[in-house]
Amino acid sequence: MANALRTALGLSLGALGAFGLEDCTEAPSAFQSRDAEPGTDVPREAPGPTDTGPMTVGPAPERPTWWRDVAPLVQSRCVECHVSGGIAPFPLDTFEAASERAPLMALETRMGRMPPWPPADDCRPLQHVRRLSPRELAVLDNWARAGAPEGDRSTYVRPPDAREPFPSSVDYTATPTAPYTPPMSALDDYRCFVVNPGWTEAKHMVQARITPGDARIVHHLNMFEVRAASAAEVEALDARAPGEGYPCFGGVGVPVGSLADQRVQYVAGWAPGSPALRTPPGTGIRLEAGSRLVLQVHYNQSVVRGASDRTRVEMVFSPTAPRRQAMVIPVMADRFRIPAGMPDYAVESSLQPRALGITFPVTVYGAFPHMHQFARATRSTLTRASGADECLVDVPRWQFHWQQFYMFDEPVRVEPDDRVTVQCRYDNSAANQPVVGGVQRTPQEVRSGTGTLDEMCMAFFYITIL
Ligand code: HEC
Repeated sequence: MANALRTALGLSLGALGAFGLEDCTEAPSAFQSRDAEPGTDVPREAPGPTDTGPMTVGPAPERPTWWRDVAPLVQSRCVECHVSGGIAPFPLDTFEAASERAPLMALETRMGRMPPWPPADDCRPLQHVRRLSPRELAVLDNWARAGAPEGDRSTYVRPPDAREPFPSSVDYTATPTAPYTPPMSALDDYRCFVVNPGWTEAKHMVQARITPGDARIVHHLNMFEVRAASAAEVEALDARAPGEGYPCFGGVGVPVGSLADQRVQYVAGWAPGSPALRTPPGTGIRLEAGSRLVLQVHYNQSVVRGASDRTRVEMVFSPTAPRRQAMVIPVMADRFRIPAGMPDYAVESSLQPRALGITFPVTVYGAFPHMHQFARATRSTLTRASGADECLVDVPRWQFHWQQFYMFDEPVRVEPDDRVTVQCRYDNSAANQPVVGGVQRTPQEVRSGTGTLDEMCMAFFYITIL
């Protein structure tokens, strides 16, 4: 069974999305009124405990206004994506842009399509939930109905859950040496970029912000640490491929190694809408001296072709080693086959700490489920030694484009005899086949693997020992 984890680690890691531990992105763009001086921002001070009123208390006003009711809501719930240069097709961060779309905003939120938030509410309380409250839905509805009035700028109060700013000075920024342009012919392109930070001592990463160079083509990205023992191997892959970086899918193209001799570690990731990350207090990710960082970017050119990208990963280190060194551990099923035509096929995998030789408790802070395009649902469960089940994370309607680390409100203590199970369900019926070269495929047996047309069943868990 120790082999199970070794196998899990030894398999190349999947095409992962975000690693949104805790939000610390900079406050979204300024809410400027038409007549504001350029650069004149609305007040940014956090409100005191008594003035959180406009957003959350009492029934929704009959005639909400932009400044008093809608701007704070949009700022905390929409603008991480709906900002110019963001992943969403239009900004919503000014009165002009939002008022034009008030009815559509009301409709999309009422239908539950916006903001995107795939996990179910009745599992475990999560941090940074994007789902709107009934009151917030009513505010958007009433605003549209009232003809989207602007109101008075002085009534604006910065929302209490506005993001803490990311530090303005960082310890290290990893970025490819030059911009990269995916081939015109490729709808999807997976590219790995090797960065040599030249570290002569270990670092303890506690915050990271990933900024795509061109968010229109960056579908998601992952950053891996490749330890010194495998550095020459990734550099050779890089040298062999013409142009910046080298092609890669799933992992970084070199073996991950074993628990005792780990060569590749998953560090951080980004997907549309995923926040900057801050590791839970007292924890951090150790990066070794001599390591290379490999940025694996999945480009998708369905919006534009021929654009170039140079993505940045800004990192903040802790000056001293955090009390607990975190690990990102996968629980994954391998060697499964989904029969052709099956509309609902389940696969699962589970892990028990004691079976891995772990005789002390482990703290789990969050989960990041990962599957591909045939997937329909996934659920991770903790089964206590007593037999009681606890839901860890539940994604009842899988959407490949919305993946991230879901961090628990409260970390979960897992005892050696508990068991963590990841269950995945797939739809391999004729109606759910990918279009390849303009033609929808007929159902075929789908196998586990890292290719776009393979499937994966896994979840990563951010853990510390004890
Ligand atoms: C995590 C990113 C993200 C957040 C947060 C988000 N959106 Fe979106 N929104 C998108 C993307 C991307 C699209 C483009 C359509 C799609 O991919 O689903 C979109 C599309 C829309 C559309 C157009 C839908 C259509 O069919 O034309 C509206 C309206 C909208 N969003 C409103 C909102 C509102 C209101 C909020 C906040 C309450 C919000 N969104 C929050 C990413 C986001």
